[in-house]
Amino acid sequence: MKKAFILAVSCICILTSCEQPKEKKITNKYTEEPHSFAQPNNAIITHLDLNIDVNFNTHVISGTATYNIVNNGATEIILDAKHLDISEVKADGKETTFTLGDMDEQLGQPLTIVIKETTKKIAITYKTTSKTEALQWLNAQQTADKTHPFLFTQGQAILTRTWIPIQDSPQIRITYNATVKVPSDLMAVMSAENPKKKTADGIYNFKMVQPIPAYLIALAIGDIEYKAISDRTGVYAEKSMIDKVFHEFSDMEKMVLAAEKLYGAYDWEQFDVIVLPPSFPFGGMENPRLTFATPTVIAGDKSLTSLVAHELAHSWSGNLVTNATWNDFWLNEGFTVYFEIRIMEALYGKERANMLALIGRQDLDEELESLKDTPNDTKLKLDLKGRSPDDGMNSIAYDEGYLFLRTLEEKVGRKKMDAFLKSYFKKNAFSTTNTEDFITYLNTNLLEKNDITFNTKEWIYEPGVPDNAAIIQSDAFSSVEKILQTFIDTKTIDSTSTNRWTPQEWVHFVRNFPEDIKIEQMQQLDDTFNFTESTNSYISMVWYEQSILNGYHGNKVDSKISEFLNTVGRRWYVTTLFKAFKKADRIDEGLTIYKTARPNYHSVTTNTVDALLGYNI
Ligand code: BES
Ligand code: ZN
Repeated sequence: MKKAFILAVSCICILTSCEQPKEKKITNKYTEEPHSFAQPNNAIITHLDLNIDVNFNTHVISGTATYNIVNNGATEIILDAKHLDISEVKADGKETTFTLGDMDEQLGQPLTIVIKETTKKIAITYKTTSKTEALQWLNAQQTADKTHPFLFTQGQAILTRTWIPIQDSPQIRITYNATVKVPSDLMAVMSAENPKKKTADGIYNFKMVQPIPAYLIALAIGDIEYKAISDRTGVYAEKSMIDKVFHEFSDMEKMVLAAEKLYGAYDWEQFDVIVLPPSFPFGGMENPRLTFATPTVIAGDKSLTSLVAHELAHSWSGNLVTNATWNDFWLNEGFTVYFEIRIMEALYGKERANMLALIGRQDLDEELESLKDTPNDTKLKLDLKGRSPDDGMNSIAYDEGYLFLRTLEEKVGRKKMDAFLKSYFKKNAFSTTNTEDFITYLNTNLLEKNDITFNTKEWIYEPGVPDNAAIIQSDAFSSVEKILQTFIDTKTIDSTSTNRWTPQEWVHFVRNFPEDIKIEQMQQLDDTFNFTESTNSYISMVWYEQSILNGYHGNKVDSKISEFLNTVGRRWYVTTLFKAFKKADRIDEGLTIYKTARPNYHSVTTNTVDALLGYNI
C-alpha cells in the first residue's frame, strides 16, 4: 500500500516535470547563513569557468569568471565579492547591470546582477586588488629554493570572494574548469585534476568534476615538481624539498587505504599534497585532490604526518559531507580529528593514537580556560552571526568535537560506531549537513535503533565538557610525567629512559613544565637535550614558548625565536609564541620581532596577531 502510494506520487512528479522540461528548479533547501550575501533559494551558481591571467609583476589576477546558473524565477542573482575590481558583467553574452552593495568589514560586498528568468550564464570580468586576503604573493627569498616567486591562495572560511566573485557559502557546490596563465618558468596547480609537468607556454587547463563549495577552490603557483608515491597519491614541492617531502609522506597510499577501509571509497580519484613555503598560515588545508601543507611538518622522521591523515580525513568529513554554515564547523573538524586519530591508530597503533588524543585533550583544557569568560564559545554548535567565522576556529570544534565522538564510540562500541559513520558519509555524500540534521540522523540510525541513551544535546548545546567524557590514557605519557616530576624533585634525569622518546613525548614533557620551573633547570635540560637546536618544529615551538614564559635566554634561544618567527607563518605556532610574550609581560619584545616578521605572514596570520598584540599599521 505504502509502496504503491510512493510510486503513484513519483509518477505524477515525473509527468509534471515532463510537462515543464525547462530546467531543474531549486527547492527551498538552503538554510539562512550569516556569512554569505547569496540567496541560493532564488538563484544559484552550479558551474564555474574561470579564465585568468596571473601577473607576478603587478601582483594582480585578472580575467573572467563565467557561471552556469539556475534561476528560481528571480530578477537578480547575488554573489559575494570583497576588494575586487569588477569592470563588466554579462548575462547570456549581453552586458547587464550590476551593483556592489555596502562594504561589510567581514563579509565584503553583495554583488547583485540583473538577470532574466531565462538567463543561463553570467560572466564577470574582474581584477584582484592589493587588499585581497586570500592571496599571498611571495618573492624568491621567501621560498625554499630562493630562485622563483610563489603564489598561493587560502579560501577557508570566507576568503575565496577576495580572489573570485562567487556565492561563497559552504552550502553551495559547484564544479569548475579553469584556464590559468602564468609565467612560463612556473607551474600552476589547483584543487582539481593537475599537471605533473610544466607546460611550455605557461597555460594550464584544469577540470574539477566533483562539486565543491567555494572555500575549497585553491591555486598554487611556483617552481615546483611532482613525485608520485602510488597511482593515486603523490607530492608537489620545490626542487630542494621534493625528496625530503617524498620520504616524509611515503605512507600516504597506506593512509588512503586505511581510511577507505574505515568509512568507504575515496571519492576524489587523486590524493596529492603540495608543500608550500613556510609562510603558509595553516598546518594543512584540505583542498580537494591537492592538500596544501606547511613545510614545518617535514621533520625527517615522519613524526608529524598525522597532519596528512587529518587533511585526508577531510576528504570525507568536510569535503564530501560539508558543514552547512560556519556555526556547524565542529561537524567538519571534530569528525576529522576523530577520523585522523583512527587512521593513525590503523597505521601506527593505539599508543600513538592515544598520545595524539591526549595532546588534544590538553589543548582543549587550555582553550576552555582561555574562554572561561565567554562560555557560549565553548559550545560545539556556535552562533557566529555578526562575527568572523575565524572566532569559531579553535580547539572546541576540533578537540571537544573529537571527545564527543570518542565518548560516543566508547558508549556504543566500535562496530556500531563505524557502521553508523560509514552510512552517514554515504547518505550525505557531495552535500551539506547541519548540526540539527546530524542529531536526527544519529538518533534514528544509531541510538534509538540500539536502544541507547546518550546526552547528545548536552554535548552540543551546553558550554564545556560533560561529566561523561571519555578518559584518555597513555602509558607513554604517564611515564613522561613521572620522569619530569623526578627531574623537578631531584634535578637528575636518566637519559636511558628518554633516548627512545618520540617527538610527541618530548612535546608532552616540555609542555608540562611546572609554572615555577627554574631558569637553571631549563639551562640544564637544554644543555642535556639541545632543545634550542631541535630540528622538529613542534618541539621547537613548545620549547620557545616555555623559554619566553620563563625568561630563559640561554644557548642563543632568543635569536632562534626571532629567526623562527621571521620565517614560519603558521598561525598556530606564531600566535602561541606571541601569546607567550604577552603573558610574560614582554609585549615590547614581541612587537619588535613582529614588526620585521609581519611582512612575511599571510593575512590570516596578521589578522590574528594584530588583534592579539593590539598592533596598528
Ligand atoms: N581546514 C583546516 C584549516 C582551516 C580551518 C582553515 C579554518 C581556515 C579556517 C585544516 O584541516 C586544519 O584543521 N588544519 C590544522 C591541522 C591540524 C589539526 C592537524 C592546522 O592547520 O593546524
Ligand atoms: Zn581540519
